[in-house]
Amino acid sequence: MSKKVMLRRKITLCRFDDMHCHFRDETLLKEVLPFTAKYCGRAIAMPNTRPRAILNAKDVIWYRDKIKMVLDKIPKMSFFKPLMTIEIRDNTTPQMIVDAHRVGAVAGKIYPLGVTTNSDQGLREFFSNGIKETFRTMQDVGMICLIHGELDSPRKLFIEREEAFLPIFLQLVENFPNLKTVLEHVSTEKGINMVAQLGNNIAGSITAHHPILTLNDSRLNPNNICNPSPNRFEDRDAVLKAMTSGSPKFFLGSDSAPHLREQKECANIHCGVFTAPILPSLLCEIFEIAGCLDKLENFTSRFGAEFYRLPPNKGKIDLIKKEWTVPSQYGSVVPFMAGAKLQWQLM
Ligand code: NCD
Ligand code: ZN
Repeated sequence: MSKKVMLRRKITLCRFDDMHCHFRDETLLKEVLPFTAKYCGRAIAMPNTRPRAILNAKDVIWYRDKIKMVLDKIPKMSFFKPLMTIEIRDNTTPQMIVDAHRVGAVAGKIYPLGVTTNSDQGLREFFSNGIKETFRTMQDVGMICLIHGELDSPRKLFIEREEAFLPIFLQLVENFPNLKTVLEHVSTEKGINMVAQLGNNIAGSITAHHPILTLNDSRLNPNNICNPSPNRFEDRDAVLKAMTSGSPKFFLGSDSAPHLREQKECANIHCGVFTAPILPSLLCEIFEIAGCLDKLENFTSRFGAEFYRLPPNKGKIDLIKKEWTVPSQYGSVVPFMAGAKLQWQLM
């Protein structure tokens, strides 16, 4: 038998949990949500929507209803459930945590001030008495703490921001040893090593783009520009290694972050990479090239659910080995890898 005949032509996977996804609002919500709902059982809906950010129980109900209204209009989307979150700001009180958790917010998201898209009112102070009470309440009610781990500080290049944040991350973890915390979209070797060394209440989410991009790839293509920025080769390789390691501490959080084409291909580039339409295909290819397709399902569909203490998703998805070209645009948004060829196709 030739080697070709032995290669896999079809793969069936449990529906994904995408533990970090931007669905936006209004027109973009309608355009982007169907991609994720097609292959995910659940996805964490990021709260940095504008003009209305998701900050409290009322916002959670409002945003979930909006998402459900869109889902109701798409056939066969009953498999999909959004997992709701709130933004944690300096004025987020323990009562806001309790109320948001009661209506179903599973996680609170911290954006340090000014480090990324829509973080203009992000957290300034990680260790004030007020915010400590808020974190303590999250710990008590079992709300997961999601952290955009970057710090904007003087004389730091943007590629050094994740490393600059790690001491704050460590102190937070030490102060709240029972707070389940995710260092999101880990993008550096140092970040990966820190997550790996910490206890089981600490995990790292990994995107599909950080294991394949370096600063070289984002320098001239605005559609590859995102936060945290793709970094050095050593960082990219460490992310890929963690992703394919089989460690339950690392799971999928795509950070699919759509922006209008005119907001990407312009002078004041909005940060964010739109991976939702190609995510299963791209992940299959990454894991296949790494020689560990057998580890893909744990990364996409098991470790995240276990960390969130959720049962595994019931539905399945199929991919077949068939080359296709990523369209140049989906609706108003240019997808990641537009025009490139991918080897796996979602059925
Ligand atoms: C995200 C966005 O566009 O909302 N952008 C990004 O570059 N990843 C915000 C975020 O998660 O940082
Ligand atoms: Zn994000």
